[in-house]
Amino acid sequence: MRRPVVMGNWKLNGSKNMVTELISGLSRELQGVEGVDVAIAPPTLYLDLAERMLGESSSNIILGAQNTDLNNSGAFTGDTSPEMLKDFGASHIIIGHSERREYHNESDQFVANKFNFLKQNGLTPVFCIGESEAQNAAGETETVCARQINAVIDSFGVEAFENAIIAYEPIWAIGTGKAATAEDAQRIHASIRALIAEQSQSIAEQVIIQYGGSVKPENAQAYFSQPDIDGALVGGASLDAKSFAEIAKAAAKAKAL
Ligand code: 13P
Repeated sequence: MRRPVVMGNWKLNGSKNMVTELISGLSRELQGVEGVDVAIAPPTLYLDLAERMLGESSSNIILGAQNTDLNNSGAFTGDTSPEMLKDFGASHIIIGHSERREYHNESDQFVANKFNFLKQNGLTPVFCIGESEAQNAAGETETVCARQINAVIDSFGVEAFENAIIAYEPIWAIGTGKAATAEDAQRIHASIRALIAEQSQSIAEQVIIQYGGSVKPENAQAYFSQPDIDGALVGGASLDAKSFAEIAKAAAKAKAL
């Protein structure tokens, strides 16, 4: 049985005040909630504050981040290394988000290299994949997801997916309110797991596959009721303590059945 993972991707949102309030609220809302791993990925600049806030509230919330560089130190202006992320207690690192692929021209191979570098440094990649609206309309969803996953498998082997997280995020569903149906998402998740199972059944069975794209308290239960949807990567709704906690609780409930 896979333990669900619900992660909040705060994207470029935050202030000292907001981080303080949101983490206090989340710690309160999630008290006593079991059967789900809950993670947050604040902007890098707020990791220090987030780490201290989580420590003070003795919360089980896992700290994450939204990106990594491919080096641990050196002349790489503006970047943040896995060692630095670890230094601030971050363990679950989002890579390959469609916003980075699009706005920073990150290629499949570049993202695969980040995946490998995180693993080498003992961190958990939260590896985002997903198709555009046009690719979806052309029936290319499975092909696009397979290409993105195979970039990792071809360079680093299927073992890279051991203890890793995949987030299937159809680009057209991100921040649009136009979420994929639970049935469609399940079909894609099953195809992703089957692709990994072609190389290793055991790794396919343990890999967490989250759905992301307009997940809200109202639709969360439907996703988590699907056998191959093991959690969610949540954007907008993760900025509200009550909404995010409700999504996490829905995962715990659905997967406990
Ligand atoms: P929304 O939940 O705002 O659609 O964002 C999803 C996302 O991109 C999470 O990484």
